[in-house]
Amino acid sequence: CVDISKLTKETGLFTYDPGFGATASCKSAITYIDGDQGVLLYRGYPIDQLAEKSSFTEVSYLLMNGELPSAAELAKFEDEVTHHTMMHESLKAFLQGFRHDAHPMAMLAASVASMSAFYHDTLDLQDPEQRRLAAIRLIAKMPTLAAAAYRYSIGHPIRYPRNSLGYTERFLHMMFEVPSEELELSPVIAKAMDLLFILHADHEQNASTSTVRLVGSTGANPYASVAAGITALWGPAHGGANEAVLKQLAEIGDAKNVAKAVERAKDKNDPFRLMGFGHRVYKNFDPRAKIIREMTHKVLGELGVNDPLLDVAMKLEEFALKDDYFVERKLYPNVDFYSGIIYKALKIPTEMFTVLFAIGRTPGWVSHWLEQQVDPDARIGRPRQIYTGSPKRDYAKA
Ligand code: ACO
Repeated sequence: CVDISKLTKETGLFTYDPGFGATASCKSAITYIDGDQGVLLYRGYPIDQLAEKSSFTEVSYLLMNGELPSAAELAKFEDEVTHHTMMHESLKAFLQGFRHDAHPMAMLAASVASMSAFYHDTLDLQDPEQRRLAAIRLIAKMPTLAAAAYRYSIGHPIRYPRNSLGYTERFLHMMFEVPSEELELSPVIAKAMDLLFILHADHEQNASTSTVRLVGSTGANPYASVAAGITALWGPAHGGANEAVLKQLAEIGDAKNVAKAVERAKDKNDPFRLMGFGHRVYKNFDPRAKIIREMTHKVLGELGVNDPLLDVAMKLEEFALKDDYFVERKLYPNVDFYSGIIYKALKIPTEMFTVLFAIGRTPGWVSHWLEQQVDPDARIGRPRQIYTGSPKRDYAKA
Protein backbone atom coordinates (compact mmCIF):
# COMPACT_ATOMS: atom_id res chain seq x y z
CA CYS A 1 0.00 0.00 0.00
CA VAL A 2 1.60 3.27 -1.16
CA ASP A 3 0.66 6.69 0.26
CA ILE A 4 0.81 8.92 -2.79
CA SER A 5 -0.80 11.99 -1.21
CA LYS A 6 2.59 13.58 -0.40
CA LEU A 7 3.93 12.76 -3.86
CA THR A 8 0.79 14.27 -5.41
CA LYS A 9 1.27 17.49 -3.42
CA GLU A 10 4.95 17.75 -4.38
CA THR A 11 4.86 16.67 -8.02
CA GLY A 12 1.23 16.88 -9.20
CA LEU A 13 1.38 13.16 -10.03
CA PHE A 14 -1.89 11.30 -9.60
CA THR A 15 -3.32 7.87 -10.44
CA TYR A 16 -6.12 6.87 -12.83
CA ASP A 17 -8.40 4.49 -10.95
CA PRO A 18 -11.97 4.34 -12.31
CA GLY A 19 -14.36 3.12 -9.62
CA PHE A 20 -11.59 3.53 -6.97
CA GLY A 21 -10.88 -0.20 -7.03
CA ALA A 22 -7.27 0.38 -5.95
CA THR A 23 -7.61 3.53 -3.87
CA ALA A 24 -8.04 3.78 -0.09
CA SER A 25 -9.72 7.12 0.59
CA CYS A 26 -9.29 6.99 4.36
CA LYS A 27 -8.06 4.99 7.33
CA SER A 28 -10.81 3.37 9.38
CA ALA A 29 -10.99 1.20 12.51
CA ILE A 30 -14.64 0.19 12.05
CA THR A 31 -14.96 -2.75 9.66
CA TYR A 32 -12.48 -5.23 8.19
CA ILE A 33 -13.11 -7.26 5.03
CA ASP A 34 -10.88 -9.96 3.58
CA GLY A 35 -12.52 -10.40 0.20
CA ASP A 36 -10.44 -13.43 -0.80
CA GLN A 37 -11.22 -15.36 2.36
CA GLY A 38 -14.82 -14.14 2.69
CA VAL A 39 -14.18 -12.59 6.13
CA LEU A 40 -16.15 -9.69 7.61
CA LEU A 41 -15.42 -8.22 11.06
CA TYR A 42 -17.17 -5.34 12.82
CA ARG A 43 -14.66 -3.78 15.24
CA GLY A 44 -12.82 -7.11 15.18
CA TYR A 45 -15.85 -9.33 15.86
CA PRO A 46 -16.74 -11.91 13.17
CA ILE A 47 -20.09 -11.26 11.53
CA ASP A 48 -21.33 -14.82 12.16
CA GLN A 49 -20.78 -14.43 15.92
CA LEU A 50 -22.58 -11.10 16.01
CA ALA A 51 -25.41 -12.56 13.91
CA GLU A 52 -25.82 -15.41 16.36
CA LYS A 53 -25.32 -13.63 19.68
CA SER A 54 -25.92 -9.92 19.34
CA SER A 55 -28.80 -7.55 18.59
CA PHE A 56 -29.04 -4.67 16.14
CA THR A 57 -28.94 -2.01 18.86
CA GLU A 58 -25.89 -3.65 20.46
CA VAL A 59 -24.16 -3.78 17.05
CA SER A 60 -25.06 -0.10 16.50
CA TYR A 61 -23.39 0.76 19.82
CA LEU A 62 -20.38 -1.35 18.91
CA LEU A 63 -19.92 0.33 15.53
CA MET A 64 -20.28 3.83 16.98
CA ASN A 65 -18.14 3.31 20.09
CA GLY A 66 -15.63 0.63 19.16
CA GLU A 67 -16.43 -1.75 22.06
CA LEU A 68 -19.36 -3.93 23.03
CA PRO A 69 -21.51 -2.24 25.69
CA SER A 70 -21.99 -3.49 29.25
CA ALA A 71 -25.62 -4.29 30.15
CA ALA A 72 -25.98 -0.82 31.73
CA GLU A 73 -24.39 0.92 28.71
CA LEU A 74 -26.68 -0.94 26.32
CA ALA A 75 -29.76 -0.10 28.38
CA LYS A 76 -28.76 3.59 28.39
CA PHE A 77 -28.10 3.55 24.63
CA GLU A 78 -31.46 1.88 23.90
CA ASP A 79 -33.13 4.41 26.17
CA GLU A 80 -31.56 7.28 24.27
CA VAL A 81 -32.53 5.82 20.90
CA THR A 82 -36.09 5.25 22.13
CA HIS A 83 -36.25 8.85 23.33
CA HIS A 84 -35.59 10.11 19.79
CA THR A 85 -37.95 7.93 17.74
CA MET A 86 -40.67 10.53 17.16
CA MET A 87 -40.55 12.58 13.97
CA HIS A 88 -41.48 16.25 13.94
CA GLU A 89 -45.19 16.68 13.17
CA SER A 90 -44.35 19.02 10.27
CA LEU A 91 -42.52 16.15 8.60
CA LYS A 92 -45.89 14.49 8.12
CA ALA A 93 -47.04 17.51 6.12
CA PHE A 94 -43.79 17.32 4.19
CA LEU A 95 -44.41 13.67 3.28
CA GLN A 96 -47.96 14.50 2.25
CA GLY A 97 -46.53 16.73 -0.48
CA PHE A 98 -45.38 13.67 -2.41
CA ARG A 99 -47.43 11.95 -5.09
CA HIS A 100 -49.29 9.01 -3.62
CA ASP A 101 -47.22 6.55 -5.67
CA ALA A 102 -43.79 8.01 -4.84
CA HIS A 103 -41.07 5.42 -4.23
CA PRO A 104 -40.39 5.11 -0.46
CA MET A 105 -36.63 5.53 -1.12
CA ALA A 106 -37.32 8.97 -2.64
CA MET A 107 -39.38 9.92 0.41
CA LEU A 108 -36.79 8.54 2.82
CA ALA A 109 -33.90 10.41 1.20
CA ALA A 110 -35.86 13.67 1.16
CA SER A 111 -37.15 13.37 4.72
CA VAL A 112 -33.70 12.52 6.13
CA ALA A 113 -32.22 15.52 4.28
CA SER A 114 -35.02 17.65 5.73
CA MET A 115 -33.93 16.71 9.27
CA SER A 116 -31.20 19.34 8.97
CA ALA A 117 -33.99 21.91 8.81
CA PHE A 118 -35.44 20.62 12.08
CA TYR A 119 -32.36 20.08 14.27
CA HIS A 120 -30.27 23.22 14.10
CA ASP A 121 -28.75 22.47 17.49
CA THR A 122 -26.68 19.68 15.97
CA LEU A 123 -24.99 21.98 13.51
CA ASP A 124 -22.09 22.77 15.86
CA LEU A 125 -19.89 20.05 14.44
CA GLN A 126 -17.09 20.97 16.85
CA ASP A 127 -19.07 19.65 19.80
CA PRO A 128 -18.64 15.85 20.19
CA GLU A 129 -21.85 15.55 22.21
CA GLN A 130 -23.87 17.24 19.46
CA ARG A 131 -22.28 14.97 16.87
CA ARG A 132 -23.21 11.93 18.95
CA LEU A 133 -26.75 13.22 19.40
CA ALA A 134 -27.14 13.64 15.64
CA ALA A 135 -25.98 10.04 15.14
CA ILE A 136 -28.49 8.78 17.72
CA ARG A 137 -31.26 10.81 16.09
CA LEU A 138 -30.52 9.26 12.71
CA ILE A 139 -30.52 5.70 14.08
CA ALA A 140 -33.71 6.40 16.07
CA LYS A 141 -35.75 8.17 13.41
CA MET A 142 -34.81 6.14 10.36
CA PRO A 143 -37.43 3.40 11.02
CA THR A 144 -40.08 6.02 11.84
CA LEU A 145 -39.45 7.87 8.57
CA ALA A 146 -39.22 4.61 6.61
CA ALA A 147 -42.51 3.29 7.97
CA ALA A 148 -44.17 6.69 7.43
CA ALA A 149 -43.00 6.72 3.80
CA TYR A 150 -44.46 3.26 3.31
CA ARG A 151 -47.77 4.04 5.03
CA TYR A 152 -48.15 7.19 2.94
CA SER A 153 -47.37 5.29 -0.26
CA ILE A 154 -50.26 2.89 0.40
CA GLY A 155 -52.61 5.65 1.57
CA HIS A 156 -52.80 4.49 5.18
CA PRO A 157 -52.47 6.70 8.27
CA ILE A 158 -48.98 7.08 9.69
CA ARG A 159 -48.49 5.19 12.96
CA TYR A 160 -46.58 6.63 15.89
CA PRO A 161 -43.62 4.72 17.33
CA ARG A 162 -44.67 2.52 20.24
CA ASN A 163 -41.79 3.06 22.62
CA SER A 164 -42.60 0.12 24.87
CA LEU A 165 -41.34 -2.11 22.05
CA GLY A 166 -37.74 -2.82 21.08
CA TYR A 167 -36.13 -1.25 17.99
CA THR A 168 -37.10 -3.84 15.39
CA GLU A 169 -40.53 -4.72 16.81
CA ARG A 170 -41.29 -0.99 16.93
CA PHE A 171 -40.49 -0.66 13.24
CA LEU A 172 -42.74 -3.62 12.36
CA HIS A 173 -45.50 -2.16 14.53
CA MET A 174 -45.30 1.15 12.61
CA MET A 175 -45.37 -0.67 9.26
CA PHE A 176 -48.33 -2.98 9.78
CA GLU A 177 -51.85 -2.78 11.21
CA VAL A 178 -51.79 -5.83 13.43
CA PRO A 179 -48.19 -6.73 13.88
CA SER A 180 -48.33 -6.97 17.65
CA GLU A 181 -50.52 -10.07 17.48
CA GLU A 182 -48.51 -11.40 14.56
CA LEU A 183 -45.30 -10.78 16.46
CA GLU A 184 -46.62 -12.55 19.52
CA LEU A 185 -47.54 -15.45 17.30
CA SER A 186 -44.27 -15.34 15.46
CA PRO A 187 -41.25 -13.80 17.18
CA VAL A 188 -39.32 -15.34 14.32
CA ILE A 189 -40.30 -12.32 12.18
CA ALA A 190 -38.75 -9.75 14.52
CA LYS A 191 -35.67 -11.94 15.06
CA ALA A 192 -35.18 -12.40 11.31
CA MET A 193 -35.53 -8.68 10.66
CA ASP A 194 -33.10 -7.81 13.48
CA LEU A 195 -30.58 -10.25 12.06
CA LEU A 196 -30.90 -8.75 8.58
CA PHE A 197 -30.29 -5.30 10.08
CA ILE A 198 -27.12 -6.63 11.78
CA LEU A 199 -25.83 -8.10 8.52
CA HIS A 200 -26.34 -4.80 6.71
CA ALA A 201 -24.97 -2.56 9.47
CA ASP A 202 -21.61 -1.72 7.91
CA HIS A 203 -19.40 -2.69 5.01
CA GLU A 204 -16.46 -0.26 5.02
CA GLN A 205 -16.06 2.02 1.96
CA ASN A 206 -19.00 0.83 -0.18
CA ALA A 207 -20.58 3.38 -2.53
CA SER A 208 -23.11 4.77 -0.04
CA THR A 209 -20.67 5.02 2.89
CA SER A 210 -18.07 6.64 0.65
CA THR A 211 -20.77 9.09 -0.40
CA VAL A 212 -21.54 9.89 3.25
CA ARG A 213 -17.82 10.51 3.81
CA LEU A 214 -17.42 12.56 0.62
CA VAL A 215 -20.32 14.83 1.54
CA GLY A 216 -19.15 14.86 5.18
CA SER A 217 -15.67 15.92 4.02
CA THR A 218 -17.07 19.26 2.87
CA GLY A 219 -18.30 20.02 6.40
CA ALA A 220 -21.93 19.36 5.44
CA ASN A 221 -24.16 18.34 8.35
CA PRO A 222 -24.74 14.63 9.15
CA TYR A 223 -28.38 14.60 7.98
CA ALA A 224 -27.39 15.93 4.54
CA SER A 225 -24.45 13.49 4.43
CA VAL A 226 -26.60 10.46 5.29
CA ALA A 227 -29.36 11.55 2.90
CA ALA A 228 -26.74 11.52 0.12
CA GLY A 229 -25.75 8.01 1.26
CA ILE A 230 -29.37 6.90 0.91
CA THR A 231 -29.54 8.11 -2.68
CA ALA A 232 -26.28 6.27 -3.49
CA LEU A 233 -27.67 3.12 -1.91
CA TRP A 234 -30.76 3.22 -4.13
CA GLY A 235 -29.00 2.19 -7.38
CA PRO A 236 -29.41 -1.42 -8.55
CA ALA A 237 -25.61 -1.96 -8.57
CA HIS A 238 -25.67 -1.31 -4.79
CA GLY A 239 -28.56 -1.62 -2.29
CA GLY A 240 -31.22 -1.44 -4.99
CA ALA A 241 -30.07 -4.93 -6.01
CA ASN A 242 -32.30 -6.57 -3.38
CA GLU A 243 -35.39 -5.19 -5.12
CA ALA A 244 -33.95 -6.07 -8.53
CA VAL A 245 -33.14 -9.65 -7.46
CA LEU A 246 -36.71 -10.41 -6.54
CA LYS A 247 -38.03 -8.91 -9.77
CA GLN A 248 -35.48 -10.96 -11.73
CA LEU A 249 -36.33 -14.20 -9.91
CA ALA A 250 -40.02 -13.56 -10.63
CA GLU A 251 -39.22 -12.94 -14.31
CA ILE A 252 -37.22 -16.18 -14.52
CA GLY A 253 -40.29 -17.68 -12.89
CA ASP A 254 -39.36 -21.34 -12.86
CA ALA A 255 -36.27 -23.42 -12.10
CA LYS A 256 -36.45 -24.81 -15.65
CA ASN A 257 -35.67 -21.32 -17.06
CA VAL A 258 -32.52 -20.86 -14.99
CA ALA A 259 -30.03 -22.26 -17.51
CA LYS A 260 -31.28 -19.75 -20.10
CA ALA A 261 -30.89 -16.85 -17.64
CA VAL A 262 -27.33 -17.89 -16.83
CA GLU A 263 -26.47 -18.06 -20.55
CA ARG A 264 -27.97 -14.61 -21.04
CA ALA A 265 -25.92 -13.15 -18.15
CA LYS A 266 -22.75 -14.35 -19.92
CA ASP A 267 -23.60 -12.67 -23.21
CA LYS A 268 -21.46 -9.51 -23.49
CA ASN A 269 -23.86 -8.03 -26.05
CA ASP A 270 -26.69 -8.19 -23.53
CA PRO A 271 -26.70 -5.78 -20.54
CA PHE A 272 -28.54 -8.46 -18.49
CA ARG A 273 -26.64 -9.42 -15.30
CA LEU A 274 -27.54 -11.86 -12.58
CA MET A 275 -28.66 -9.51 -9.85
CA GLY A 276 -27.35 -10.44 -6.41
CA PHE A 277 -24.17 -11.92 -7.92
CA GLY A 278 -20.68 -10.44 -7.81
CA HIS A 279 -18.97 -7.99 -5.53
CA ARG A 280 -16.15 -5.49 -5.84
CA VAL A 281 -14.33 -6.82 -2.77
CA TYR A 282 -15.52 -10.40 -2.19
CA LYS A 283 -13.85 -12.85 -4.53
CA ASN A 284 -15.26 -15.67 -2.45
CA PHE A 285 -18.65 -16.32 -0.87
CA ASP A 286 -20.03 -13.17 0.79
CA PRO A 287 -20.21 -14.34 4.45
CA ARG A 288 -23.47 -12.41 4.87
CA ALA A 289 -25.05 -14.31 1.95
CA LYS A 290 -24.11 -17.62 3.61
CA ILE A 291 -25.89 -16.61 6.83
CA ILE A 292 -28.92 -15.28 4.96
CA ARG A 293 -29.20 -18.42 2.84
CA GLU A 294 -29.39 -20.61 5.95
CA MET A 295 -31.80 -18.22 7.54
CA THR A 296 -34.06 -18.21 4.48
CA HIS A 297 -34.73 -21.93 4.85
CA LYS A 298 -35.33 -21.56 8.58
CA VAL A 299 -37.64 -18.55 8.31
CA LEU A 300 -39.68 -19.97 5.44
CA GLY A 301 -39.93 -23.27 7.31
CA GLU A 302 -41.05 -21.64 10.56
CA LEU A 303 -43.57 -19.42 8.79
CA GLY A 304 -44.83 -22.34 6.70
CA VAL A 305 -44.14 -20.43 3.47
CA ASN A 306 -43.47 -22.41 0.33
CA ASP A 307 -42.05 -19.90 -2.14
CA PRO A 308 -41.21 -21.19 -5.64
CA LEU A 309 -38.79 -18.25 -6.00
CA LEU A 310 -36.55 -19.95 -3.44
CA ASP A 311 -36.27 -22.93 -5.79
CA VAL A 312 -35.39 -20.58 -8.64
CA ALA A 313 -32.75 -18.85 -6.47
CA MET A 314 -31.18 -22.14 -5.37
CA LYS A 315 -31.08 -23.44 -8.92
CA LEU A 316 -29.52 -20.18 -10.10
CA GLU A 317 -26.82 -20.41 -7.45
CA GLU A 318 -26.18 -24.08 -8.30
CA PHE A 319 -25.86 -23.33 -12.03
CA ALA A 320 -23.74 -20.20 -11.64
CA LEU A 321 -21.31 -21.73 -9.15
CA LYS A 322 -20.34 -24.48 -11.58
CA ASP A 323 -20.26 -22.31 -14.67
CA ASP A 324 -16.76 -21.35 -15.93
CA TYR A 325 -17.81 -17.75 -16.60
CA PHE A 326 -18.82 -17.19 -12.95
CA VAL A 327 -15.98 -19.31 -11.54
CA GLU A 328 -13.27 -17.45 -13.49
CA ARG A 329 -14.64 -14.06 -12.48
CA LYS A 330 -15.22 -15.20 -8.89
CA LEU A 331 -18.86 -14.16 -8.96
CA TYR A 332 -20.70 -15.47 -5.90
CA PRO A 333 -24.09 -14.59 -4.41
CA ASN A 334 -23.87 -11.36 -2.40
CA VAL A 335 -25.90 -10.06 0.55
CA ASP A 336 -28.80 -9.07 -1.68
CA PHE A 337 -29.35 -12.45 -3.28
CA TYR A 338 -31.46 -14.15 -0.61
CA SER A 339 -32.59 -11.20 1.53
CA GLY A 340 -35.53 -10.37 -0.77
CA ILE A 341 -36.99 -13.86 -0.38
CA ILE A 342 -37.04 -13.40 3.39
CA TYR A 343 -38.52 -9.92 3.14
CA LYS A 344 -41.22 -11.32 0.85
CA ALA A 345 -41.99 -14.10 3.36
CA LEU A 346 -42.27 -11.42 6.06
CA LYS A 347 -44.84 -9.69 3.79
CA ILE A 348 -42.63 -6.66 3.19
CA PRO A 349 -43.52 -5.03 -0.13
CA THR A 350 -40.75 -5.10 -2.75
CA GLU A 351 -40.33 -1.31 -2.97
CA MET A 352 -39.43 -1.31 0.75
CA PHE A 353 -36.47 -3.71 0.38
CA THR A 354 -33.84 -1.02 -0.19
CA VAL A 355 -35.43 1.09 2.56
CA LEU A 356 -34.79 -1.79 4.95
CA PHE A 357 -31.18 -1.86 3.80
CA ALA A 358 -30.98 1.87 4.61
CA ILE A 359 -32.29 1.31 8.15
CA GLY A 360 -29.72 -1.44 8.67
CA ARG A 361 -26.84 0.61 7.20
CA THR A 362 -27.55 3.76 9.25
CA PRO A 363 -25.28 2.86 12.22
CA GLY A 364 -22.47 2.23 9.71
CA TRP A 365 -23.01 5.56 7.97
CA VAL A 366 -23.10 7.55 11.21
CA SER A 367 -20.08 5.70 12.63
CA HIS A 368 -18.04 6.58 9.55
CA TRP A 369 -19.21 10.17 9.71
CA LEU A 370 -18.24 10.33 13.42
CA GLU A 371 -14.84 8.76 12.73
CA GLN A 372 -14.18 11.20 9.91
CA GLN A 373 -14.89 14.20 12.17
CA VAL A 374 -11.91 13.36 14.40
CA ASP A 375 -9.58 12.03 11.71
CA PRO A 376 -6.46 14.22 11.64
CA ASP A 377 -5.79 13.17 8.01
CA ALA A 378 -9.31 14.05 6.79
CA ARG A 379 -9.39 16.49 3.87
CA ILE A 380 -12.12 17.46 1.46
CA GLY A 381 -12.70 14.59 -0.97
CA ARG A 382 -11.79 15.81 -4.41
CA PRO A 383 -10.94 13.17 -7.04
CA ARG A 384 -9.02 14.23 -10.13
CA GLN A 385 -9.82 13.41 -13.75
CA ILE A 386 -8.06 12.79 -17.04
CA TYR A 387 -9.31 15.38 -19.46
CA THR A 388 -10.32 13.93 -22.84
CA GLY A 389 -12.00 17.00 -24.37
CA SER A 390 -10.96 19.51 -27.01
CA PRO A 391 -7.63 21.39 -26.68
CA LYS A 392 -7.84 25.16 -26.17
CA ARG A 393 -9.47 26.89 -29.15
CA ASP A 394 -10.73 30.38 -30.01
CA TYR A 395 -14.40 31.24 -29.93
CA ALA A 396 -16.05 31.32 -33.36
CA LYS A 397 -19.76 31.13 -34.23
CA ALA A 398 -20.78 27.66 -35.52
N1 ACO B 1 -23.71 -11.13 -13.84
C1 ACO B 1 -22.95 -11.37 -14.93
N2 ACO B 1 -21.68 -10.91 -15.08
C2 ACO B 1 -21.17 -10.18 -14.08
C3 ACO B 1 -21.90 -9.88 -12.92
C4 ACO B 1 -23.22 -10.38 -12.82
N3 ACO B 1 -23.96 -10.13 -11.73
N4 ACO B 1 -21.15 -9.12 -12.10
C5 ACO B 1 -19.98 -8.95 -12.72
N5 ACO B 1 -19.97 -9.58 -13.92
C6 ACO B 1 -18.85 -9.69 -14.86
C7 ACO B 1 -18.63 -8.39 -15.60
O1 ACO B 1 -19.36 -8.36 -16.81
C8 ACO B 1 -17.13 -8.42 -15.83
O2 ACO B 1 -16.88 -9.32 -16.88
P1 ACO B 1 -15.62 -9.06 -17.89
O3 ACO B 1 -14.40 -9.12 -17.02
O4 ACO B 1 -15.72 -10.13 -18.89
O5 ACO B 1 -15.84 -7.69 -18.45
C9 ACO B 1 -16.60 -9.07 -14.54
O6 ACO B 1 -17.68 -9.89 -14.08
C10 ACO B 1 -16.20 -8.07 -13.46
O7 ACO B 1 -17.33 -7.22 -13.20
P2 ACO B 1 -17.24 -5.67 -12.88
O8 ACO B 1 -18.53 -5.03 -13.29
O9 ACO B 1 -15.96 -5.11 -13.42
O10 ACO B 1 -17.12 -5.72 -11.29
P3 ACO B 1 -17.35 -4.50 -10.32
O11 ACO B 1 -16.53 -4.79 -9.12
O12 ACO B 1 -17.12 -3.20 -11.01
O13 ACO B 1 -18.90 -4.56 -9.97
C11 ACO B 1 -20.94 -5.28 -8.98
C12 ACO B 1 -19.40 -5.22 -8.85
C13 ACO B 1 -21.49 -3.87 -9.27
C14 ACO B 1 -21.50 -5.75 -7.65
C15 ACO B 1 -21.31 -6.27 -10.11
O14 ACO B 1 -20.85 -7.57 -9.79
C16 ACO B 1 -22.81 -6.29 -10.41
O15 ACO B 1 -23.30 -5.47 -11.18
N6 ACO B 1 -23.57 -7.22 -9.75
C17 ACO B 1 -25.02 -7.26 -9.90
C18 ACO B 1 -25.66 -6.20 -9.03
C19 ACO B 1 -25.59 -6.53 -7.55
O16 ACO B 1 -25.87 -7.64 -7.12
N7 ACO B 1 -25.22 -5.50 -6.75
C20 ACO B 1 -25.15 -5.63 -5.28
C21 ACO B 1 -23.73 -5.60 -4.81
S1 ACO B 1 -23.65 -5.88 -3.08
C22 ACO B 1 -24.10 -4.43 -2.43
O17 ACO B 1 -23.87 -3.36 -2.91
C23 ACO B 1 -24.86 -4.48 -1.22
